[in-house]
Amino acid sequence: MTEQASPDGLAEQLRAARQWAGITQEQLAGLSTVSVRAIRDLEQGRVRHPRRETLRLLAGAMRLSDARRAALELAVEGAEAGTVMREAYGAELAPPPKPLRRLVGRAEELRVLTGLLATEHERLLSVVGLAGVGKTRLAQEAALLLHGRDRTPVVWVDMTGTAPQTAGPAGTRSPRSALTGWARSLALGGRGLDELASVIRGRATLLVLDGHDTGPHLTPPLLELLHVCERLKVLITTREPHRTPGNRMLPLGPLPVPDPEPAEFPGGAEAPGASLTAGQPAVELMLSYVGHMRPDLMPGDSLVRTVARISRALDGVPRAMEAAASWLLLRSPAELLRIAHTTPLDVVDDVTAGDTGVDGGGEGLAALLAAAVARLDDGPAALLGDLSLLPDGWSADQAAAGLSATPAAVVRDVHALMLRGLVRRLPGEEDGAPRFGVLNLVRQLAAERAASLVPATAFVSS
Ligand SMILES: Nc1ncnc2c1ncn2[C@@H]1O[C@H](COP(=O)(O)OP(=O)(O)OP(=O)(O)O)[C@@H](O)[C@H]1O
Ligand SMILES: [Mg+2]
Repeated sequence: MTEQASPDGLAEQLRAARQWAGITQEQLAGLSTVSVRAIRDLEQGRVRHPRRETLRLLAGAMRLSDARRAALELAVEGAEAGTVMREAYGAELAPPPKPLRRLVGRAEELRVLTGLLATEHERLLSVVGLAGVGKTRLAQEAALLLHGRDRTPVVWVDMTGTAPQTAGPAGTRSPRSALTGWARSLALGGRGLDELASVIRGRATLLVLDGHDTGPHLTPPLLELLHVCERLKVLITTREPHRTPGNRMLPLGPLPVPDPEPAEFPGGAEAPGASLTAGQPAVELMLSYVGHMRPDLMPGDSLVRTVARISRALDGVPRAMEAAASWLLLRSPAELLRIAHTTPLDVVDDVTAGDTGVDGGGEGLAALLAAAVARLDDGPAALLGDLSLLPDGWSADQAAAGLSATPAAVVRDVHALMLRGLVRRLPGEEDGAPRFGVLNLVRQLAAERAASLVPATAFVSS
C-alpha cells in the first residue's frame, strides 16, 4: 500500500468518522484516552495495524454504530473479515436497499410473499417473470418489511452483470461488500460457503439473489448453505425459472390493466377518469409517470382515459410504462397510444436511450423481451405464435380446440409461457375456466419466432 490511503482505507474512514462526530483530534483523545499522537498517526496512514482495543476505544468515543465499527476494523490491513463480521453481524449490518419510489398495487402478491417468508418450511423462493415486470421492486418491499418488523438481517446481492463487482473476500473493505461478495461467489458456484456459514450460523437471515438469471439449476454451495444455516431463507428474482427441488416458484404477472372499453363513451359522464384509476394500479402508476414527465398536461377525464388505454396496450408492465412516458416529450398522448397499440416495442425503451437501445445501463427492454421469446423451446414458441392471434380471454380448452392440440399439451405449454410472463392470466373466469391472454408487448415477436420455425419443421419432415 502507498502512503495515500484508499477511499475505504482506515485513515480515511477514521478521519471521516471523527468529522462526522464533529470533534477535533484533541477532543477525541480526551474522550477515548487514546493519545493525540496515536490518532494523528492513524489518520495520516502512518500506522495501519492498530490494536483492536485502540479501535474499540475510538469507536466508542465517537459512538459509531456496529456497522461503521466493523467497517473500520475491516479497513485494518490484514484484518480477517470473518472474525470482524461474526461479531458485528445483525440487522444493521445487513439492510435491504431503500426503494426510491412508492410501491403501487401488489398488495396481494406482497401478502403471499411475506406470508411464505414467515413460514418455517419455505426456505427457497423464486419470484419469476418478465423483464421489468416488478420482481426486484416486490422483493425489496418484502425484504424491507421483514427487516423493519423482525430485525431480520437482509443480505441483498445484485446478481445482474451491471452490478459493480466486489473484490474477493481478501480484498474487501466494507462489511456489506464482504457479505455480498461471498454470497455472489457462492451463488455462482465459487467460494464463500464457509465464510457465510460462519457469519450467519443460526441467525434468521434473508438472502436475496436479485436478478439471478443464470439458470437452469441453483449451485450446490447455495443449497449447502441452506442446509447448514437452518434459519436462512433465500429469495431469488429471475426471468427464467430454476429447476431445483424444493424451490417454490412465484410467477409474477404485470399489474392488472383496465378492461377494454365497450365503445366510445357517449359523453364522458358515464366513465369519469376517477373510476378508471380506482383499483387500477397500472393506470395509477402510468399516470404518475406521465405527471412527472409532462406536468403541463391536465389530468382530466380525457387524459386519464388515454393513459388507461396506453397502460393496457403496454400490458401494465411498469418498466414499459415508465419508458413510454418519456416519449411524451416528443409525442402527444394520442400519438403515444397509437404507437403503443400497433408497435409497442418502439416505445418500451427510454427516449434518451438513443440508437444504442441501452436504457440507463444494461440491456433495453425491447431486446430483453426479444431474448425471452428467443429462449423458448420450439413447442411453446409455436404455441405462443398461435395464441398471439387469438383475442384475449381464451381458456386452455378453447385454445386446444382451436389449435387442434390436446388440452394437456396446451396446458403444459401455457404454463411454461405463464411462468416466463409472456402469457398472463386475466381476472375472472368464463364457464368456470380461467382466461388468458398473450401480452401485447410480445405478439409481434411471437409471430416472428413462430414464422421462423416453419422452414425448420419443413426441413425435418422432408
Ligand atoms: N408495483 C410497482 N409500483 C411502483 N413501481 C414499480 C412497481 N413495479 C415495478 N416498478 C418500477 O418499475 C421498474 C421495473 O421494476 P423492477 O426493476 O422491479 O423489474 P424486474 O422484474 O426486477 O426486471 P428485471 O427482470 O429487468 O430485473 C423499476 O423502476 C421499479 O421501481
Ligand atoms: Mg430485477
